[in-house]
Amino acid sequence: MVRSPVRIAITGAAGQISYSLLFRIAAGDMLGSNQPVILQLLDIPAAKKILDGVVMELQDCAFPLLVDIIATHDPLAAFDQVDIAILVGARPRKQGMERKDLLQINGDIFKRQGQALNQVAKRDAKILVVGNPANTNTLITMSNAPDLPAENFSGMLRLDHNRALSQVAMKLAQPVSSIRKMIVWGNHSSTQYPDLYHAEIDGTKVTHLINDQAWIEDYFIPTVQKRGAAVIEARGLSSAASAANAIIDHLHSWFLGTRENDWTTMGILSDGSYAIPAGVIYGFPVVCTDSKRKIVSGLEIDSVSRMRLTAAYEELVQERDAIKQLLP
Ligand code: NAD
Ligand code: LMR
Repeated sequence: MVRSPVRIAITGAAGQISYSLLFRIAAGDMLGSNQPVILQLLDIPAAKKILDGVVMELQDCAFPLLVDIIATHDPLAAFDQVDIAILVGARPRKQGMERKDLLQINGDIFKRQGQALNQVAKRDAKILVVGNPANTNTLITMSNAPDLPAENFSGMLRLDHNRALSQVAMKLAQPVSSIRKMIVWGNHSSTQYPDLYHAEIDGTKVTHLINDQAWIEDYFIPTVQKRGAAVIEARGLSSAASAANAIIDHLHSWFLGTRENDWTTMGILSDGSYAIPAGVIYGFPVVCTDSKRKIVSGLEIDSVSRMRLTAAYEELVQERDAIKQLLP
């Protein structure tokens, strides 16, 4: 059966994450090797020349799945009839900044793009926000697109989730794929809580296998929390290939499903689950089936974990207060 192409908008298409992302989407890594795609690429006029070069390279790959490429600086053209929008375009932080320092710089972009999505995206479009601070930018985008369902918006915590998986895999010298039920609660910021207490390998708790509380508290948690800054310090630029890979993983899970007896982390609108009050975009464990996601319920949260969950929530409330003029 020949499938009709999926229209995918990517903003910040001339930037460094996109340079690692577009080619993988066009190759079929995200939606599968039998799903044709149309790429609708948005960047600002000043980036036109670079974007033209990226388009040339996409053409030169002769990807069988790539049906068409639209390159534009007009959000209404980029989001027209899209099935998926990946909002990457925003300023990255530099050394010494926290991601929330970007709130005032980037927030307005997401207000305008939310409004544009509301006008022209397909009514069931799925939107992933990557530009930082990702959780609060997701809230801004969603709030400015009231005609699109809130359950179709997510902020990206998959990079944090993958970082947590890799740290455990290296510690235990086990394949990453053997680790199930990782969670990164909260904000894509240094208050995030990479929670190992539910993770398993072959049904055994990872915490029992590690059996080293100091490693968890003093190495694992801070390493994952501060990994973005460590990459900036090492590369002089924020993470790009790993961010692109996390985008691929996030949307692959959402559209093609999470694996059996496992879940993933997505930043989604809180609904009171796990006593996190409604109204912020918060990292929760989710299971995806039939392109729909559901928060995993019933996990036990001990008192130390509870403090960490609350700290992340409180930071998100502060971020929301700081940009309340962007929420209609
Ligand atoms: P970059 O500077 O290389 O590229 C950003 C691109 O966005 C540029 O081409 C720029 O022209 C474009 N842009 C700026 N304003 C725009 C607008 N209004 N519309 C469309 N395009 C616009 O940055 P990057 O390294 O690709 O990072 C992009 C964002 O992603 C940053 O905010 C970064 O902090 C964030 N990020 C998030 C995660 C995550 O896990 N959530 C991971 C890595 C990076
Ligand atoms: C990351 O986690 O690598 C990105 O969000 C970039 C950053 O500013 O840390």
